[in-house]
Amino acid sequence: MLDYKLRQSGRAALDFLSAFGPASAELQKRQHEALTKAGLTDDAKLADDMDERARQIEGTLAEVPAFRASNLMGEWHSDHHAPLAAEAFAEIETELKPTFEKLKHGKTTLTPDPSLTPDKYWLYPIHRTTGGWDGHPHMGFVHGELIQRYIVGKAARPPAAGGVAADIFAQRKQFAEQAPRRDYGKVLEIGCSSGPFTMKLAEVFPKAEIHACDISVAQLEQAQRNGNNLGHAWTLFQADGRKTGKADAMFDLVTSYIVLHELPVDVIGDILRESFRVLKPGGDLMFGDVAPYSAMNKLNAWRTDFLAKFGGEPFWRGSSTMDMVGLMKSIGFVDVKYYGVAPTNYPWVTYGRKP
Ligand SMILES: C[S@@+](CC[C@H](N)C(=O)[O-])C[C@H]1O[C@@H](n2cnc3c(N)ncnc32)[C@H](O)[C@@H]1O
Repeated sequence: MLDYKLRQSGRAALDFLSAFGPASAELQKRQHEALTKAGLTDDAKLADDMDERARQIEGTLAEVPAFRASNLMGEWHSDHHAPLAAEAFAEIETELKPTFEKLKHGKTTLTPDPSLTPDKYWLYPIHRTTGGWDGHPHMGFVHGELIQRYIVGKAARPPAAGGVAADIFAQRKQFAEQAPRRDYGKVLEIGCSSGPFTMKLAEVFPKAEIHACDISVAQLEQAQRNGNNLGHAWTLFQADGRKTGKADAMFDLVTSYIVLHELPVDVIGDILRESFRVLKPGGDLMFGDVAPYSAMNKLNAWRTDFLAKFGGEPFWRGSSTMDMVGLMKSIGFVDVKYYGVAPTNYPWVTYGRKP
């Protein structure tokens, strides 16, 4: 983690945003009580079709103040998190400049590809983050450090530390540890963003040569800073995971973390085919993401779908309902496994081996 100190106003704004999760817990409880009263916590009473189910549940919740209040909070958070994080960054930009300059140098290299034209799906402002992955000249820092590590990471601290749930960075390590081997030579990460999972790959596979790509240069620049700050020798390169430009059969492990649910289903297929191509025979593919709807009860699947729809995640439903196992097998992967890490089913693991 880079060393930086927010100004008081930036810190107050980001602390305020990170308190939204814990603050909405009581509102969630009241919604659940209203649904229990209406008999809608019983799977047998809920429609199989998601849109029909949404009409059933949202029709009942429309009259519940706690539902309206939590939606208003969600809207405000979605609209304000990126502008407030950018303002907090602007307050410290000048003093961060020497650190940014210093961390361009080191054993972690970055190769941009100025000819890469991002696909339309990638330009969508995912999470409703203003401008998307490259929406700010320093979006790697703004998203990776301020939105993800500060706002989300803080909200995700255990309740005793003022948060609501698990440590989102420990989850990345727990996911990497699902790999069947520790002796990989070359590892490729697709969609590394600012490098939080790359760091965990380096911890779990300390001897591996780590290559990581992303479409966003702003994210990769922050990944390079993180790599150099920790003394790693990562090979970072700008590329679409559908066309990495790497040689056939080059990698022992191809992996990614929370990328799939941000992709249209056809892009997922193309990335899996490219991963198969660049894997050595006997190599492993392991992608970690959110649980599919089939692993949830109907109410939780609706809640997930509802939050995704209004939280700027237009591809979540597609990736959460696709036939991933069938797709993996059709590409040629064997020993395919599709399972959630206990006890919460998160992260959800898609695993397959190239024969
Ligand atoms: C949720 S972030 C990934 C987060 C990161 N792996 C982590 O552990 O926090 C999704 C990333 O995938 C990247 N991405 C989306 N489509 C991609 C593609 N086709 N090829 C490479 N990267 C892609 C985005 O630019 C973004 O940085």
